[in-house]
Amino acid sequence: MTPSPFDPLVDDTTLASSSVVANNAMNRGRGLESYRRELGIDPIAEVRNNGWLDLCCGEARALIDAAGLVGGAPLVGVDLVEFFRPAPPGVDLRVASLSHFHTDQRFDLITCVHGLHYVGDRLGLLARAASWLAGGGLLVADFDAAAVCGPNGKPLGRALLAALREAGFDYDGRRRRVSKRGPAAVNFPFTYLGADPAAGPNYTGQNAVHAHYERCG
Ligand SMILES: C[S@@+](CC[C@H](N)C(=O)[O-])C[C@H]1O[C@@H](n2cnc3c(N)ncnc32)[C@H](O)[C@@H]1O
Repeated sequence: MTPSPFDPLVDDTTLASSSVVANNAMNRGRGLESYRRELGIDPIAEVRNNGWLDLCCGEARALIDAAGLVGGAPLVGVDLVEFFRPAPPGVDLRVASLSHFHTDQRFDLITCVHGLHYVGDRLGLLARAASWLAGGGLLVADFDAAAVCGPNGKPLGRALLAALREAGFDYDGRRRRVSKRGPAAVNFPFTYLGADPAAGPNYTGQNAVHAHYERCG
């Protein structure tokens, strides 16, 4: 990890076992209706043959609610912890850290509801997720731009918003939501420095993690 004057930053393995991420009190139980409200879309209307990947799926309630409504399209959920509800056939739930997760599958819909707040290299994850979209697919996630900081601990601000825009992402600052339509090979002009798990509460009122980057290129 590149040394930073802003300490203590931790790597993503340390982050995963920090009290803010390994936290049983966070809301992991949102169902499909909650996802509709949080994301401002109807997930079912987005899913065609390539299915839905839910990042940081928690108990996977939204995917389980969607089973039977998507004509057998794949429903895949990934979370760091195995707190999944019992799922019907066709719902594929995987325990993995999204800091390292890769897939060769392509999806019509990729969501992350209040998960990126706990992921260290969240720009790296957004970039990889953009490459997992099928043609015309939609990536949509809760994303707090104020929690993406430079080496001095201050939000990257306009530099981040410009980089998102250049990479084809839309950022809705009022709803704190990022989205991208259609696949792309994305390279954000930032190098990940590490995460600050002691950043305190974010706009949701829950303790969250700040991600630190320095400009490259
Ligand atoms: C606030 S919960 C939201 C769960 C679900 N999206 C919902 O809305 O019900 C955030 C989830 O992110 C997961 N998470 C945090 N960091 C992660 C990581 N690096 N990789 C995979 N999942 C992670 C947590 O385990 C937790 O289940």
